[in-house]
Amino acid sequence: MRATARAQPNIALIKYWGKRDTEQNLPAVGSISITLADLYTTMRVGFDESLSADSLVVNDTGNPVMLPRVSRCLDAVVGADRAPALIASESNFPIAAGLASSASAFAALVVAADAAAATHHSRERLARLAGQASGSAARSIYGGFVELANDDDAIEVSTLCPADDWPLSVVVAITATGPKAVGSTEAMETSRATSPFYARWVEQQNDDLDEARAGIGARDFARLAAVAEHNCLKMHSVMWASRPPMVYWNATTLECMDAVRQMQAEGIPVFFTIDAGPQLKAVCEPAAVEAVRERLAATEGVEAVMVTGLGDGARLIDDG
Ligand code: PMV
Repeated sequence: MRATARAQPNIALIKYWGKRDTEQNLPAVGSISITLADLYTTMRVGFDESLSADSLVVNDTGNPVMLPRVSRCLDAVVGADRAPALIASESNFPIAAGLASSASAFAALVVAADAAAATHHSRERLARLAGQASGSAARSIYGGFVELANDDDAIEVSTLCPADDWPLSVVVAITATGPKAVGSTEAMETSRATSPFYARWVEQQNDDLDEARAGIGARDFARLAAVAEHNCLKMHSVMWASRPPMVYWNATTLECMDAVRQMQAEGIPVFFTIDAGPQLKAVCEPAAVEAVRERLAATEGVEAVMVTGLGDGARLIDDG
């Protein structure tokens, strides 16, 4: 009744922002992401009838705040009549700072719980279960370039291109640590209810998905770069125009964007993307990774940089 799974965060190149069903946590738009290789969450789940309640330890510290969400996710995977569980999570990167730690955490959680309780769900079902807990987590079930298609009454997640088939690199510039000001669920709802750009955002998403899919299919870096930056800035425009406005960037985020622009002008194959947090993620061809790392590390205000390639989906690492 115990198992351990590992999953990596993913970074959306075509973003998910907005929900069409808050009850089932279904996204209003499809998205395309890349699953990372070297940042990961390891999740141990043990069901034990002798426990009186679930308990959650995150990086060696009890975490009662996240526990209800984790318990709900376990109920969805195993059934509400399950035994209480001891859940222990460890991540090798800052959590709750716009680095998609909830994606790697919930992807690893559903895989570990499924093995511990021997429920034998399909990969597709596990992706839906992870997505119910955190929309972006559905994508971390799969590796490489991943599309989450937003179908009529469900989501459909699949790998468009395995990590090894187009091995890009990602340099994450950490511009601030600590939890973000507004969580994504609340922020998305504020955008849906108040942003004058929200409807256009949803309307245009399929065009951006088509363009990104074509860029990935052709391994055309410049084509993917152009649509990814456009989609990222469009999502942030929706946030900026919300009431109250949500600005996740800081001055260093802008410095990093400027550094990427300068590198592009020098012919370096790199583009940026930014999620609901102040970190900038620079995606580049592997030959450029040293130059990108150095330039971002030297950018005023950057606290740290992390470098990673693309990796595989969530998997079991111990089922005993
Ligand atoms: O899955 P959530 O609720 O953490 O939302 C993720 C939202 C973004 O990271 C901003 C975009 C995305 O597609 O990952």
